Amino acid sequence: MISLREWEAEDQPATRRLLIRAFGQPDEADLVEALRAEGAVILELVAEAEQQVAGHILYSRLTIDPSEGSAQVAALAPLAVDPDFQRRGVGGALIHMSLPMLAHAGVDAVFVLGDAAYYSRFGFSSELAATLQSPFPPGDHFMAMELSPGSIEGCHGKVCYARAFDL
Ligand SMILES: CC(C)(COP(=O)(O)OP(=O)(O)OC[C@H]1O[C@@H](n2cnc3c(N)ncnc32)[C@H](O)[C@@H]1OP(=O)(O)O)[C@@H](O)C(=O)NCCC(=O)NCCS
Repeated sequence: MISLREWEAEDQPATRRLLIRAFGQPDEADLVEALRAEGAVILELVAEAEQQVAGHILYSRLTIDPSEGSAQVAALAPLAVDPDFQRRGVGGALIHMSLPMLAHAGVDAVFVLGDAAYYSRFGFSSELAATLQSPFPPGDHFMAMELSPGSIEGCHGKVCYARAFDL
């Protein structure tokens, strides 16, 4: 059985192990720790299966410069599921559970860089993100989703990630 809950400090070693296993490198684990150290984390959830941390999702603060309105925006990164638990709906469950929590926390829109085929099934759209200036090469990998309808539509500002992403 898989259960989802908010990340707690005691999950730190298990989360680091999971991220290294999922990505095959320590970069994403380092990013997560830097985001926490910077105080940039908005929401962090884990999935537990067989009494271990099998999945993890993190949202960090993002700004649009210049801000065109008062939209609160967040970055989804990273999302990871342990290779032993992939393709069982864990990643999808983490996304589905976290989005209403983010909306409740006052987040109006979420950005993600990832596979368009995967994230579009949750409502992320590269068209919605296309008017903004992103730090990434052009393409459909940079996507956005509005939690508050109309909150970022037509915005042309520069999307600025937390400092930890510069590492
Ligand atoms: C991407 C990831 C989080 C998906 O988690 P998951 O629990 O396996 O995904 P789910 O079970 O919710 O969804 C599985 C579906 O997503 C698809 N999928 C999984 N990973 C995918 C990927 N990288 N690109 C495209 N589609 C992917 C599968 O084909 C499957 O499709 P189906 O339902 O039609 O069979 C997981 O594979 C992972 O941790 N990968 C390594 C780290 C990574 O790349 N993270 C994403 C960074 S943006």
